[in-house]
Amino acid sequence: MARVVVTGKIPSGGLERLKAEHEVTAWEKDDAISRAELLTMVAGADAIVSLLTEKIDDKLLDSAGPQLKSVSNVAVGYNNIDVPACEKRGVLVTNTPGVLTEATADIAMSLILMATRRLGEGERVIRAQEPWQWGMFYMLGMGLQGRQLGIVGMGQIGIATARRAKAFGMNIAYTRRSPLEDNVVKELDAKYMSMDELIESSDVLSLHCPYSPATHHLMSENQFARMKKTAFLINTARGPIVHEQALVDALKSGQIAGAGLDVFENEPAVNPGLLELDNAVLIPHLGSATVETRAAMADIAATNALAILAGAQAPNLVTS
Ligand code: GLV
Repeated sequence: MARVVVTGKIPSGGLERLKAEHEVTAWEKDDAISRAELLTMVAGADAIVSLLTEKIDDKLLDSAGPQLKSVSNVAVGYNNIDVPACEKRGVLVTNTPGVLTEATADIAMSLILMATRRLGEGERVIRAQEPWQWGMFYMLGMGLQGRQLGIVGMGQIGIATARRAKAFGMNIAYTRRSPLEDNVVKELDAKYMSMDELIESSDVLSLHCPYSPATHHLMSENQFARMKKTAFLINTARGPIVHEQALVDALKSGQIAGAGLDVFENEPAVNPGLLELDNAVLIPHLGSATVETRAAMADIAATNALAILAGAQAPNLVTS
């Protein structure tokens, strides 16, 4: 029996599978574990099952000890984990790709609709019991038909978002480092563009790339200045890909038309400037937040951890 530490509450299916084979210590409170409690809890762990709110760095790896074999993130993004630090110690890192693709694409499409059709703004009017009535020119948004959706990072979630947007009549353009499979290009009639071209020509720009030093503040003042004044930015990837203050400035000055954000630069803090803007739709990191998806994520993370502890090849290894 190995010692497995689960750093936050996870759905019971995954947790029970871990408990059936190993001695599991799991954080059971709804609130995220504090850093101090986390450092204590991981001491002596053979495997850590982590959430994206926990920073897995040198200090934590030191606290865990040299017997640690794996860190299994219950998330597809793993920017909370210092992967090179894990690799240096021979600790394997895994994530949960695939199972949250559709749920996250649903949220991206929801944000596209909410931002372009001013749904948050409209709901606020009703809830504030402000006077309103149907009017020919009242709260007009932008239609999606024939508009260009620019996908930054055409991976699984980017492709799933593009599929939805195509069904809404949008034209798909994208940028990505490696060529896209021919069948996907054909299915979506997707046009490859450089990042610059994509920024300048898209009506909606949606971010789906991983967060890394290379994508830190990928969208900043210069990029907003080159977007269409009528364009929208959607972010369901990671907050720090966007320079949040530069976005506030761009939204305030009318440099761009609006934004839909599921993620924030300093989560859970939100730039106060965003809170004042009617053209920003703000939701609290809900990309993978369905009952089914979270259960599947916990299940995959358990599979990953169990495989490594059994000395087998884990299916979802990530490397630096
Ligand atoms: C959610 O943000 C994830 O990376 O799984």
